[in-house]
Amino acid sequence: MQKILVLDFGGQYNQLIARRVREHHIYAEIKPYNKITVDEIKAAGYSGIIFTGGPNSVYDPASPHYDPAILDAGIPLLGICYGCQLIAYMAGGDVASAENSSEYGKVALTVGDNPLFDGVPENSVCWMSHRDFIPAAPEGFSAIAHTAQCPTAAMCDEKRKIYGVQFHPEVTHTEYGQQILHNFLYKVCGCVGDWQMDSFVENKIKEYREKLAGKKVLCALSGGVDSSVAAVLLHKAVGDNLVCVFVDHGLLRKGEADSVEQIFRHTFNMNLVRVDAEERFLTKLAGVTEPEKKRKIIGEEFIRVFEDEAKKIGKVNYLVQGTIYPDVIESGSGDASTIKSHHNVGGLPSVVDFDEIIEPLRDLFKDEVRKVGLTLGIPEELVWRQPFPGPGLAIRCIGDITKEKLDTLREADAIFREEIARGGFDKNTNQYFAVLTDTRSVGVMGDARTYGKTVVLRAVTTDDFMTADWSRVPYDILEKASTRITNEIPDITRVTYDITSKPPATVEWE
Ligand code: XMP
Repeated sequence: MQKILVLDFGGQYNQLIARRVREHHIYAEIKPYNKITVDEIKAAGYSGIIFTGGPNSVYDPASPHYDPAILDAGIPLLGICYGCQLIAYMAGGDVASAENSSEYGKVALTVGDNPLFDGVPENSVCWMSHRDFIPAAPEGFSAIAHTAQCPTAAMCDEKRKIYGVQFHPEVTHTEYGQQILHNFLYKVCGCVGDWQMDSFVENKIKEYREKLAGKKVLCALSGGVDSSVAAVLLHKAVGDNLVCVFVDHGLLRKGEADSVEQIFRHTFNMNLVRVDAEERFLTKLAGVTEPEKKRKIIGEEFIRVFEDEAKKIGKVNYLVQGTIYPDVIESGSGDASTIKSHHNVGGLPSVVDFDEIIEPLRDLFKDEVRKVGLTLGIPEELVWRQPFPGPGLAIRCIGDITKEKLDTLREADAIFREEIARGGFDKNTNQYFAVLTDTRSVGVMGDARTYGKTVVLRAVTTDDFMTADWSRVPYDILEKASTRITNEIPDITRVTYDITSKPPATVEWE
């Protein structure tokens, strides 16, 4: 399988670049610039390399640099933004900084005749975000595109197959960005497009069928996309040798536990152990109001429940984890250990007697995991399921948690989700749910005074959940949800809509 190296210099779009490459059906992996040498790159057999952008100036002593030997490694190279400036610098060229040469946002681009620009009109729009610029292409290179401010908006050394673009082809604001990446990958690197989800699934199933034959495999199933896809994939490989444990902590949404059971036990015929642990969790949570304490209790109790089940199952050979690629990428700075621990199943390995962890999805981005899910025949509603936090409704039920409050919240949440879907807004928002506050307010019903609970509706739009904007849900959807919630749930007298972005708020209320 061909692969492209995305060498990370700390740019904000590094994951996007890798995803874009994969959208062109070529496998891409991201490595921090300071974690791989030129010799290692050569030995790994990459078909091409992309230098990402980065926040620095090449003359800043603290800025990330790279071994200039890469320019003679015989591997096609594309530098983007800082990556382009770094190539110019390494090739002995000039990089300048001038206040009036900085460009941010959409900029008119003029391109010349070059394979990188096949199918790109002479004049189009690109996305720029830079202060430094390259006044003239370095020796051996020629300028192949310009903007009003930037005489070298793109450059190349065709002999060595080294290209650089000052703009960002990976963002959608660059009109022909996809075409430019396609040209680099297929025309310059000679890629053939052998990264396909269908063959990924086939190959993985075959690989695990051989590797795990006759072995016992255990999977903690949450009903979320990642663990579900991992479980179904493994099931296709090892059948009944896979045992899935699904812990229902009583903090799931309306009908969720039953639907998980329905899909995995009945549709997929999987060996599923459903643990009804509602009482255990609610007893531990009784009277607890502090958000972090709730999370801690739930995390610990989850492990205890799993431990009890694992004891019953006994020794297993493999433990399946739904780790995905963003969980394993390290950031370009390479400083802090930024590998995330899987906070829903963190600690699980220590309580299971197993030989090895297997992570069938560790090379995949979320959108690829969804494609694999669809290829495996997992229902669309599960594959497109919005994220749901490990601690579940406990962190959406403000104050202490009781079964009664959870039931009220479940009803309100189900109505809101139904109305969002009915209004066709579910594809326009990334996460939407209800929160039950501990605020009471006065209402009037018939001629009588009421004094009931307040529900908050929350919907956010986001790329990565690190930042988020509140979704502009149409008023008529909000109106229907509000009317139904107050009519159908006697305890609720008031419905509000959360119009806070993240930051300063977070997505969840606790
Ligand atoms: P916040 O509230 O931090 O949420 O803005 C960002 C995203 O993460 C989800 N979230 C969690 N997911 N375990 C999870 O698996 C957790 O403890 C947890 N807390 C928040 C949240 O739903 C949103 O998608």
